[in-house]
Amino acid sequence: MRRPAIFVTGAASGIGRACAELFAARGWYVGLYDVNGEGVARIAAELGEHNATSGVLDVSDPDGWEAALAHFWVRSGQRLDVLFNNAGILSAGPFETVPLAKHRAMLDVNVGGMIVGCHCALRYLRKTPGARVINMASATAIYGQPDLVTYSATKFAVRGFTEGLDLEWSQYGIRVSDIWPSFVSSAMAAGFKSIASAQSLGIRLTPADVAATVWRCATGRRLIHKTHWMVGLQAGTLSFATRVAPTAMTRWVVRLLAH
Ligand SMILES: NC(=O)c1ccc[n+]([C@@H]2O[C@H](COP(=O)([O-])OP(=O)(O)OC[C@H]3O[C@@H](n4cnc5c(N)ncnc54)[C@H](O)[C@@H]3O)[C@@H](O)[C@H]2O)c1
Repeated sequence: MRRPAIFVTGAASGIGRACAELFAARGWYVGLYDVNGEGVARIAAELGEHNATSGVLDVSDPDGWEAALAHFWVRSGQRLDVLFNNAGILSAGPFETVPLAKHRAMLDVNVGGMIVGCHCALRYLRKTPGARVINMASATAIYGQPDLVTYSATKFAVRGFTEGLDLEWSQYGIRVSDIWPSFVSSAMAAGFKSIASAQSLGIRLTPADVAATVWRCATGRRLIHKTHWMVGLQAGTLSFATRVAPTAMTRWVVRLLAH
């Protein structure tokens, strides 16, 4: 039997890289795609040409997606078991101090990239029995975050998109889930210095912690499908608390953490 294959965006660094390495170590064929073509080529070479392939992809570019997926489809032996929409960018700071171009870029990459990716990948996913889509959300999708308002809004969009598409694509047998980590010690963490909630909560997760959850999400067989996957105690506790506590209390806690 041919081995399963995962297509990872944003694979040159942090969580994407950790996932690519974990899945390759566990016998999957891995496609690493990123705007940083040299970065993914280097990692793919380390993983070995029989285990991995790579390519340049800006996730906001539909033509780029078409070419990358066609390339991956051939290299993987015609299967796409998991599409992992992981690429994302973050600009932090008070809303009006972040240039408009950076707000737009977060929408284009964090939301647009996921939408275009799913649109282009459907025909390949449908040809792979049991295929899954995993989108990268964040604990900022639990409640809107000061100093991260647009970033947080993009992750709310990931959450809603995932819920709706999961229901739509169940007709094709394709499961759609998302991953919600709190702060992670990746390159993105350089942007957390000015974020009060990152200082209050601390950066307690590593990319490997997130990769372990992505692995369980991709390979677990559950009787009842789980759409949202929390990573770490903080995200789990906050998410649970918002479901049982009055909204006013959640707002008060978020305000406290952010000051
Ligand atoms: N770091 C955290 O605390 C944290 C927490 C929750 C969720 N996330 C999410 O996890 C994902 C990965 O982030 P990370 O922490 O590994 O950050 P990272 O900065 O280490 O990695 C992001 C990768 O995405 C790539 N990328 C950026 N724009 C791209 C584009 N247009 N097309 C393709 N690739 C692009 C970058 O080159 C980089 O390799 C993001 O979606 C992020 O929002 C991160």
